[in-house]
Amino acid sequence: MDQMVSEYRALRSSVLRLWLANHRMDAEHDMQDMIRFNEAIDQALIESIATFGQAAESTRKTVLGVLGHDLRSPLGAVLMASDLLLGSENLAAREKKLAAQINASVRRANHMVGDLLDLARSNLGGGIPVNPEDADLRALCASVVGELRIGFPRAQIITNASDAVTGMYDPARMEQVFTNLISNAVRHGDLEQPINVTLSRGDDGAVFSVQNRGELIPSSVMPHLFNPHARYSSYATREKGASAGLGLGLFIAAEIVSAHGGKIEVVSTVEQGTVFKVLLPIT
Ligand SMILES: Nc1ncnc2c1ncn2[C@@H]1O[C@H](COP(=O)(O)OP(=O)(O)OP(=O)(O)O)[C@@H](O)[C@H]1O
Ligand SMILES: [Mg+2]
Repeated sequence: MDQMVSEYRALRSSVLRLWLANHRMDAEHDMQDMIRFNEAIDQALIESIATFGQAAESTRKTVLGVLGHDLRSPLGAVLMASDLLLGSENLAAREKKLAAQINASVRRANHMVGDLLDLARSNLGGGIPVNPEDADLRALCASVVGELRIGFPRAQIITNASDAVTGMYDPARMEQVFTNLISNAVRHGDLEQPINVTLSRGDDGAVFSVQNRGELIPSSVMPHLFNPHARYSSYATREKGASAGLGLGLFIAAEIVSAHGGKIEVVSTVEQGTVFKVLLPIT
């Protein structure tokens, strides 16, 4: 857009320069011509900016509409049906296994659609909206860990004992942060070694951390780790197959944390392993 405007400007000034070089500016009609030319260029510029803006706005609406409704509704229906199927008693073992597979896949697809919706929202409107309310991070974290233990029975997720950590947080969004960070440890870390999850209430606020072993995150990737665009083409695409993610998990976690006034720190070294630390104010 900026580039388009400056090209228009350059075009206008070079035309005017040519004009001045070839004309003596004393004749009244020359002056009129030049004013008309200026007006025509301005009009064209205004019109094309308006058209461009409309196109961008309608793309935005389409993306949000498709993701938010058109895809979510059928996925929701499949999810509900597979939940029912899973719960039904007169299924043979083979059918039960298939139903479980459908359920897991549709959950994953639903999750990805949610991530894309968050990306679209935040790229186009500035941040992911959060609705803070009185919430206990301890309880939210425990429920996420419980779910992940069921989903990944091989993972050894160790949690520390802590008191309630209450404050003003968006519960669903904070669950999303915990899920994204702990499931990263499970999916990208070494499952033979324990994953340490801690939550505590410090003097400066709440601190949540996840530590895992396994392949380290290269330092060259660190600056782009939370940037959804820089990372699409580089690091995230390396992981192939059904388990490959969209590479949005960390970006979304960081957006949610920053919407709460907090931040995420990360280290990945041989000594410490990979540690993601979320620092949140207690309000
Ligand atoms: N705990 C971790 N240990 C090792 N590598 C990690 C860890 N967390 C993230 N990474 C690396 O950073 C990349 C980006 O993580 P991110 O959560 O943003 O995307 P993803 O997990 O690939 O996909 P998605 O979360 O969208 O399903 C991962 O692909 C992985 O290579
Ligand atoms: Mg992830």
